[in-house]
Amino acid sequence: MTTRAPSPSRSPADVARRLLSASATRSYDPDKDVDWEVGAPDDAWFAPPELVSLYGTATWDRLDARQRVELSRQELASYMSMGYWVELLVLRMFSRHLTSLAPTDPRGHYALTELGDETRHMKMFGRCLSALGCPVYPLPASVRRLFPLGEPLFQDLTTFAVTLVGEEVLDHYQRALLAAEHAHPLVRQICRIHVAEEARHVSFARTELRDAVRRASRRRLAFHRELTGCAASLIIPGLLDPSLYARVGLDPVQARREAGRNPHHKEFRLRSGAKLVAFLQDVGMITPAQHHWWRRAGLMR
Ligand SMILES: [Fe+2]
Ligand SMILES: [Fe+2]
Repeated sequence: MTTRAPSPSRSPADVARRLLSASATRSYDPDKDVDWEVGAPDDAWFAPPELVSLYGTATWDRLDARQRVELSRQELASYMSMGYWVELLVLRMFSRHLTSLAPTDPRGHYALTELGDETRHMKMFGRCLSALGCPVYPLPASVRRLFPLGEPLFQDLTTFAVTLVGEEVLDHYQRALLAAEHAHPLVRQICRIHVAEEARHVSFARTELRDAVRRASRRRLAFHRELTGCAASLIIPGLLDPSLYARVGLDPVQARREAGRNPHHKEFRLRSGAKLVAFLQDVGMITPAQHHWWRRAGLMR
């Protein structure tokens, strides 16, 4: 009996080539591929109620129907604003990463393609916020202050791990929106485009991260595990700006605390990070020493 040699797993360059070909076949132009004039009933949810952070709490029970819908609109605006800012951080991290790659490298070519996708996504998010009459929530002050300090230290490990933190958690939220037939049709169109293109980004970042970990020294890995955990602990709680609660007449401090204790919301957040955390543990980017960061991010028990 002959034994077949195991087929070698695809190299990062092979993955980049496959993603380049997939991008050429299936990419979207939100200026043309979104119906920006699409109508919706006056009481359309902007995100399904089960995704709203206060769903199932005593405060939720006290809100009237109009306030609940408005809360879903404000939370969508906060997620979408943060999506915009996080993509801007990805552009900066990828631009730095490109300086270490040759102009002929297919991995660089895919990184450039992803930069193109993200610039379209940012415009799409911004245009959607305008179309829905939503406010723009700022990047949390902690991220705004600390990112420029940490950025020169990021290198490939933290660049791809932090990119995955933003992409996978937002992706979970958007997939849930996409599945909700009663959610606003414009929001669902945006999510459909974003989910399709982000699937390639996640594949690229996971492949690159696995490769970077394989090449990293123990010392470098230990440092980047901490940096990534710290970044996640700042970015994920920032997805919901507490000032949004004031826009539906709630006390922001109290409402944020109630959302933080809400078992329904905690479970949703844990589910949104489950695949990401499992992957980062598998590749060695999370060890028990970093669990405190990931608990603070709400992505671990
Ligand atoms: Fe994106
Ligand atoms: Fe992305």
